[in-house]
Amino acid sequence: MNSKTMFVSLCLFSALFAFSLSESVFAADGQGVFNKNGCKMCHFLAKGINAKPYPSKEQLAKLDYSTFKDKVTNGVSGTLMRGYSIGDGDMKAMYDWLQEFK
Ligand code: HEC
Repeated sequence: MNSKTMFVSLCLFSALFAFSLSESVFAADGQGVFNKNGCKMCHFLAKGINAKPYPSKEQLAKLDYSTFKDKVTNGVSGTLMRGYSIGDGDMKAMYDWLQEFK
């Protein structure tokens, strides 16, 4: 390998490395947040039900973001849905991930 090729591959390598690093640092994993908080125990259906007992992921995806965030933060009184304190980044990542069930 001559030094020019070496330089080019080093550049490529660092660009790739920086990219994967920023992916993991900045893009929260929506599905991971959903699973980690136990949402999947109740919101396990992909489609169909839109209220009690367990709204499907499709239903969650149909809410606009501010309604989604409000219900997740405050819960829905009189139901099993309690409030969760989830940061903005994770909240948005979860919402974005849910859109694939729409
Ligand atoms: C113990 C079961 C349970 C868990 C765990 C749970 N939910 Fe719920 N969730 C419910 C129920 C039941 C409702 C429905 C209330 C109703 O009938 O309006 C609901 C409603 C919601 C709604 C509002 C739906 C709508 O159409 O208004 C959202 C959004 C939601 N859940 C998101 C989440 C997220 C995100 C998590 C995890 C952080 C989570 N839920 C965890 C049971 C649960």
